[in-house]
This record gives sequence, C-alpha cells and structure tokens, in this order.
Amino acid sequence: MNPQDQPGPDPGSGGGIGLSNRLANPNRARMLVVEDDPRSRKLLEGYLLGEGYQVRCAPDGPEALELVARQVPDVVLLDVMMPQMTGHEVCAALKAHPRTRSCQVMLVTALDSLPSKVEGLDTGADDYVTKPVRREEFLAKVRALLRARRLLVDLEDARAELAARNDELQLKKALAQSLVHDLKNPLAAILGNLELLEMRSGSDLLHLVQRSKRGADRMLQMILNLLDVERLEEGRLQPEQKRLNATTLVQGAVKDAEASAGQRDVTLVAEADGAVKALGDVALLRRVVDNLISNAVRHSPMGGEVRVAARMRAEGVEIAVVDSGPGVPAAYRENIFDKYRQIDARNSNETANRGLGLTFCRLAIEAHGGTIWVDDGPDGGACFHCVLAAAEPEGDEERTAEPVLAGHFEGGG
Ligand SMILES: Nc1ncnc2c1ncn2[C@@H]1O[C@H](COP(=O)(O)OP(=O)(O)OP(=O)(O)O)[C@@H](O)[C@H]1O
Ligand SMILES: [Mg+2]
Repeated sequence: MNPQDQPGPDPGSGGGIGLSNRLANPNRARMLVVEDDPRSRKLLEGYLLGEGYQVRCAPDGPEALELVARQVPDVVLLDVMMPQMTGHEVCAALKAHPRTRSCQVMLVTALDSLPSKVEGLDTGADDYVTKPVRREEFLAKVRALLRARRLLVDLEDARAELAARNDELQLKKALAQSLVHDLKNPLAAILGNLELLEMRSGSDLLHLVQRSKRGADRMLQMILNLLDVERLEEGRLQPEQKRLNATTLVQGAVKDAEASAGQRDVTLVAEADGAVKALGDVALLRRVVDNLISNAVRHSPMGGEVRVAARMRAEGVEIAVVDSGPGVPAAYRENIFDKYRQIDARNSNETANRGLGLTFCRLAIEAHGGTIWVDDGPDGGACFHCVLAAAEPEGDEERTAEPVLAGHFEGGG
C-alpha cells in the first residue's frame, strides 16, 4: 500500500504537539528497518532495541509502505538493494507525501560508490551509512535524525498554528468590516434628521444640533476611510474617470468645512483660478479634500488660516491645501501616509484620530494615477499637493458642491 492511500494520520503518529512530546522521549521514538537480508535486519533491529527504541521491520519496500500507512515511523533505515522496490524508490515515495515527508530516512548501502550516495541524497534521503555498519556511528546518526525530525515536527506545528490563527484573523477582519459597513446606514438616517432639525431649530437649540451634526460627519468620515482603505488596497474600488470641475469641488469642500473650522476660529479660503477641469471620481476626490482640510484645520492654531486651491499645472490639475500649523518635519513626509502612522500618537487618544485619513488620500489619488505629497507652505505650515490628470473643458461636469454622501448609502436607514 502507498502512504498516499491512507485517509489521514493514525492516532498519535501524525503531526501535533503530541508528536513533538513523544519524540522528546527516546523510548517512544519509532524506527522502521527495511532490509531483505534477515541477518542484517536482525543486526540493525538489535542495535536499535538496545537503545530502547520501538522497532518494526519489513523485508521489502511494499511491506514497508504498508506498515508506514498504518503508523508513521520517525526514522526509516532503508536498505538500497532490495527486490521489487529499491531503497531509493521507497524513499522517494515517503518524501513525496505530506504525511510522511518529515520521516527521517537513512539509507543503509553496501555500495560505497559516490554516484549511489548522490542518487540516494537526491531522492530525499537524510543520511546514509555503509555496510558493514559500525554500531556507534549508526546510533549517533539515528540520534541526529531524531533531532532533525523533532525540529521539522515543531516547524510544521508552528506553521499549522499560524495558518489556523490567520484563518481566525481573516474571519475577525471580515466581521469587523461588515460591522463598520452596517454603521453607515443608521448614521445616514441620523445625519438626515440632524439636517432637518438644523433647518427648523430655534437659535437656542441650533448650536446643539450643529455640534451633533459635526460629530456625525466626523464619524462618517472615519467609517468611510476605514472601509475604502480596505477596498482600495484590495483593488475592489475603482475610481470613475469622469470630467469634473476641481474649482467647484474645492469651493464645496471649503463651504462645508466652515462650521467646524469656525469652532477653532480658523479661516478657510478657497482660491479659485477659473474653472479647472480634471478627470476623476468626484465623490472620492471630495473626500480626499475633506480629509486634507480636516487635518489642516486641526493642526492650525486658533485664529489660523487654511487655503485650498485648484489650479492648472504643466503636470495636470493640482489641488493644494496649505495650513498655518507647525508643518510636517522632513523625516515624516513619506511615512505619514502609512496606515495608522501619526507624528505624535498621543494626539490620537485625545481626538479619536487614528491615522487612516492620509492613507485613504494616497490610495485614492494613486488609484486615479495621480500623486500626492507634502512639503512646506510659504509661511512654514504644511502644504499637501494632489496632482491629477487634466480634462478638456467640454460637456456637463459632475455636480461637485455636495457629493460626499453620493453612492455611499443603500436603502433606508
Ligand atoms: N496638516 C498637517 N500638519 C501637521 N501634521 C499633519 C497634518 N496632516 C497630517 N499630519 C500628521 O500626519 C498624521 C496622519 O494623518 P492622518 O490624516 O492619516 O491621520 P489622523 O488625522 O491622525 O487620523 P484620521 O485622519 O484617521 O482621523 C497625523 O496624525 C499628523 O501627525
Ligand atoms: Mg486625518
């Protein structure tokens, strides 16, 4: 029988922590002697029994494979010249199967020729001894093979455990993603109701409603960043490449951010340079600009200024957000775009920021084929630049003033 025919490992002889423990005890290590000459077989069996190993014997290859199929040995002592199957063939069969490939195989050969040794090692044998076998050398080699077997078993255990943990992690990740996804619709309903309340509230309640709305907007930005970073990384989110008006996009973003900038007494300025036409996905790009503005406002001092511009450049359409904060030190200019990367992580405890906004921005801009980077603004604050492909100004552009929620909510709430 072939080891491949077996449905699975026999109890106590397959992988797992139990096997590693068993191998720690020499009296429980399993040897299989495969030798057609009865005298040689008895000799090797005697040496091994003398050390306390468990020993089984087979007179030829097919019978050896039968025994292996029933119980996987730790070390196989394999004569090379045998009728029916050579030792090399038996060795190749053992090494070809996942269940038996970590069995250690020692060829016992009467052929002291180099080609025979090379062939044996090439079929996957782990070691060899030549006849007449010298007891001390033989037993030392068996001990070395047992050590190797134990290491291999530990490695396989670790790999299996890692694979199981990875499966679990993927499951948790999928669960977390779907939970976050499910938060979007009720949040949309809350935002819608807050907008109605904002229109109808008297001045005594208005500031409460507006504060709640800003909180809900911020929550939505975080949820969308989280979901879209994942989707962009996996290539599941392909931006549309439609003609859009970058100037009105910037103006809309500035207008909507005025209320929260006002909280910090930060002035927002949209720098319009005529109608600047770009190619891209208006909802995604609007969220890029929203993220850059919310960072710029947060890092500007009370009473500071944030300028947002859309302009034509030789390379394409540039959208730039310049603030009056401390700027981004040169050492951080590349890695602040990495996931969860913040210059000062302590801030995140106070402000519930998690370092995903710029990751989203970079993935979204790069998915457009564009580039994004940061350098110093004219007055030392940070200046974030996004460059996108320009479009010829013809036909109707997408509406750009208030698209941030477009396409993000399904059904009711
Ligand atoms: N305009 C800026 N001025 C100075 N530092 C900035 C500016 N924008 C971003 N940073 C730095 O880059 C880090 C990463 O920004 P990012 O937008 O990715 O995350 P965040 O704003 O901390 O959290 P999130 O956007 O996920 O709520 C920030 O924590 C901050 O340290
Ligand atoms: Mg941010």
